[in-house]
Amino acid sequence: MTSASSDSKKTDVGSYFISNYPPYSQWTTDQLPEVRSALESVSPLKTPLGLYLHIPFCRKRCKFCYFKVFTDVKAAEVQRYVDALCSEISLVSQLPVMGDRPFRFVYFGGGTPSFLSPKQLTKLADQLRKHITWDGAEEVTFECEPGTLSETKVKTLRNELGVTRLSLGVENFSDDLLELNGRAHLSKEVHKSWKWIEEADFPNVNIDLISGMVGESWDNWRENVVKTLELSPESVTIYQMELPFNTVFSKDILGNQTESKVADWETKRAWVDYAFEQFKDAGYSVSSAYTVVKDPQKVNFSYRDNLWKGADLLATGIASFGHANGVHYQNLADLTQYLTAIEEGQQLPLGRGFVPSDHQRLVREMILLLKRGYLDASYFREKFGVEIKDLFAEQWNDIVKNDNATIEGDSIRLTSKGLLSVDGLLSAFFEPQFQGVRYT
Ligand SMILES: C[S@@+](CC[C@H](N)C(=O)[O-])C[C@H]1O[C@@H](n2cnc3c(N)ncnc32)[C@H](O)[C@@H]1O
Ligand code: SF4
Repeated sequence: MTSASSDSKKTDVGSYFISNYPPYSQWTTDQLPEVRSALESVSPLKTPLGLYLHIPFCRKRCKFCYFKVFTDVKAAEVQRYVDALCSEISLVSQLPVMGDRPFRFVYFGGGTPSFLSPKQLTKLADQLRKHITWDGAEEVTFECEPGTLSETKVKTLRNELGVTRLSLGVENFSDDLLELNGRAHLSKEVHKSWKWIEEADFPNVNIDLISGMVGESWDNWRENVVKTLELSPESVTIYQMELPFNTVFSKDILGNQTESKVADWETKRAWVDYAFEQFKDAGYSVSSAYTVVKDPQKVNFSYRDNLWKGADLLATGIASFGHANGVHYQNLADLTQYLTAIEEGQQLPLGRGFVPSDHQRLVREMILLLKRGYLDASYFREKFGVEIKDLFAEQWNDIVKNDNATIEGDSIRLTSKGLLSVDGLLSAFFEPQFQGVRYT
């Protein structure tokens, strides 16, 4: 069995990050008729609507990465994918689920969206604008790998794609560690691109760091924090290194029966804790188990918060995850099948789905919102007609007993210990049939 960022000390292969419920392994092709009917139905006007676009290419596969990515792809194949993505969006734009709703948030994720050239990005934006508009969106996020950026590309993102939140995968400032972990970029590329990013004046720039890259030490981690503070981004996201099955590191550990070289969970948590304290001293606030923000008034996480609260998210691109009218779905994860569905069939490239019960939607929302560090029981009473403190009395008792949360009236608040290990707390809320199953 796999474990969610558990309390067991070692970072073993098979750990995973909880981002949805019920577990992805339970989604099936049998449920696609329900997905289609959800997409063919009109959603309530008040349900926020988002768009996710997946760009699966990277310059190099990082040894810790578990995403579906392709490297060494020829320019013509990248263009073919981008064209298919535009055709898919044309199909999506005709779906009744869109209704008259504008997109409230848009997310270009990957892989590496910034792998695309300025010319490809301009073409993508032009083609997309024939079918949809995202001018009124409150947040347009674009994920970038530092070494893929150029001054022209950064300007294209801001001026032609209307990006409001640029997220930069810095991960670490040590060139030795970056190389050891198979990253394609070096720290000088971070500094070079930072100048262009500052000049383009994005409302929000986020830096991603990973606590527990192979080779990490206390001295180097402190240095990472200092260097991040020097750049002074609007937000910083710190992931604790996971080792799901399909990473290069995991395959090496399993294939050669070697020990994991990733620091244990306690150390990774201590590093995040240290970083959070330093950021707080510098005026940042903790906004979730993974994120600190410089100015909570200015930075709102539209994608994260809306998604966690069950907004509609129309997923486009290979293997993307979406949610429409209360139904989960994922696009085809095989590139040939994905392209064929769109190019030859003019069909949505749907792969599998899941129709959650009301209880499952409640669990999903509750565990995802708990990642912010607090819950308000009255919110769930109003939305689901459920007393979460009573329904999950046993789980909350355990969590409080172990010093992971305090409960006062309707307010459930994680302690800093609970917040740093939140992913390990969530599976207790899973229904029995999903307790022992593989997550992805
Ligand atoms: C899609 S990538 C961001 C954009 C770009 N591909 C890059 O890496 O610069 C999303 C983030 O996931 C995080 N990530 C990837 N694999 C991880 C792992 N095994 N454990 C923890 N975080 C991981 C990294 O921080 C990475 O920046
Ligand atoms: S971490 Fe980012 S750059 Fe590295 S392989 Fe994964 S998606 Fe690509």
